[in-house]
Amino acid sequence: MAQPLTIINVPDPLLKTISQEVLRVDDALKKLMDQMAETMYRAPGIGLAAIQVSVPKRLLVIDTSDKEGEQTPQFFINPKVVWSSEETNIYNEGCLSVPEHYAEVERPAEIRLEYLDYNGVPHVSLFDGLDATCLQHEIDHLDGIVFIDYLSKLKRNMIVKKVAKATKDAVVL
Ligand code: NI
Repeated sequence: MAQPLTIINVPDPLLKTISQEVLRVDDALKKLMDQMAETMYRAPGIGLAAIQVSVPKRLLVIDTSDKEGEQTPQFFINPKVVWSSEETNIYNEGCLSVPEHYAEVERPAEIRLEYLDYNGVPHVSLFDGLDATCLQHEIDHLDGIVFIDYLSKLKRNMIVKKVAKATKDAVVL
């Protein structure tokens, strides 16, 4: 089993990093991807971007399948939205880097995405529903954006303060 990694929380300035393109899909990257999936399942969450485990690479993992006990991680390397729909969806979003806080965010309902998969094979695919929202949320992380950045400054600051306090008070074992 892959060794899980530590997830960083807001207001860690690393979360504002613009992540770098992945140049090579090699064994080291695959090891990182396996560790990211393990970290996501343990959290538990349905999506994780590399920067959330302090690695500034354009890489993310999602698993939006709701089958009990079955893990079907999907990896996206250098994901790029090449089209998004006019139509939007609103989901109540959360984030592993903003534990225990949720807010409604409106995003395009459908996107077309260019990316490389776990084996470095290029794809262009259409995503909708929860997949589209989850992918846009994770791609935002690669550009230094967290979902609370879409909220009012007042609401955002309140959440960041609460998370910072909870993180400081936590006993991490
Ligand atoms: Ni997130």
